[in-house]
Amino acid sequence: MVRTFHPVEIVGCGSYVPEKVVTNHDLEALMNTSDTWIVERTGIRQRHIARDDQALSDLAIPAARQALAHAGISASEIDLIIVGTSTPDMLMPATSALVQHAIGATRAAVFDMEAACTGFVQAFIVAQQFLMTGMYRKALVIGGDLLSKFTNFSDRGTGMLFGDGAGAVVLSSGGQDAILSNLMGADGSGADLITIPIGSRVPPSGERADSGGHHVTMKGREVYKFALERVPPAIQEAARLAGLELSEIDHFLMHQANARIIEAVAKRLGLPMEKMIVNIDMRANTSAGTVPIALAESAHSGRIKAGDTVLMVGFGSGLTWAASVIRWTAAPYSQED
Ligand code: UT7
Repeated sequence: MVRTFHPVEIVGCGSYVPEKVVTNHDLEALMNTSDTWIVERTGIRQRHIARDDQALSDLAIPAARQALAHAGISASEIDLIIVGTSTPDMLMPATSALVQHAIGATRAAVFDMEAACTGFVQAFIVAQQFLMTGMYRKALVIGGDLLSKFTNFSDRGTGMLFGDGAGAVVLSSGGQDAILSNLMGADGSGADLITIPIGSRVPPSGERADSGGHHVTMKGREVYKFALERVPPAIQEAARLAGLELSEIDHFLMHQANARIIEAVAKRLGLPMEKMIVNIDMRANTSAGTVPIALAESAHSGRIKAGDTVLMVGFGSGLTWAASVIRWTAAPYSQED
């Protein structure tokens, strides 16, 4: 019988971005663009880019270790690992299996979830279901992408947007009841708006792959429009399901796709910019990484404090979107974690 409801909370978080920083000025040498255009149209000033020898698990593992240390939990206690990503190390095995082995989470079941920029929030919601039913007690949820390996740096429509990075949270059941609402949605009619075509339709060897099939494509204007249509109602609905007025929510953590999207959503909903968490200037768009990286950075810096409410919302390729309202209950982060 699967029936029981168990309270769920985040007990730790972590993040990792590669060391190498690429500024907008660096990109001026690769594509027909300018620092001024990129800052004005996206808010991005720099991005972190992985080394040639780094794959997604190399970003996910340090993020996971930091989240476990913050939670004060050993890897052997983890029952489930989900990695939300569209840029796994390999098509198989799942990157979550590589993470499981590297951190020594020998008891954990693993799987990856592919929902592009929505990947973390969606994986976060899925993991909760296993904990709420009592099937598992502790889950590690990672969101991250390494889009630089799939980016055409001479395409100015996409090449300035993305960075690499990963973030992680540890979810635990049996403590405080800190998940206030969840929602997920999709509109597959927009599946062509953001793609990395390579797969069983565009196989890795062949003319279409060689002529750019392994690169991100994006109809930027249409995606922008989608975000402004879908994200404000998703935020309103997530707040309603949580039984909160927007004014009662302390932090709004949107996918960092473009600073103009965050500003336009805030304006539309009458939200003060001080409540919007923004790190796109330094981290760029790390796809499934943006929400957990910004969450971990904000929690570790003390911006998000115990008792605060946080509304997280992811959106992107699919098209997909997902939102969750949580109350922050994790212990303050110390440098020794
Ligand atoms: O993470 C997944 C979700 N992704 C998103 O949410 C992305 C949503 N879309 C966007 O953020 C924006 O559409 C972009 C940042 C991608 C593009 O900004 P935009 O304001 O929509 O620019 P645009 O494509 O409409 O182009 C405006 C002008 C064009 O010039 P003309 O035709 O007006 O002369 C472009 O050629 O800006 C030009 N342009 C650039 N100029 C310098 C486009 N990209 C660049 C560039 N540098 N990188």
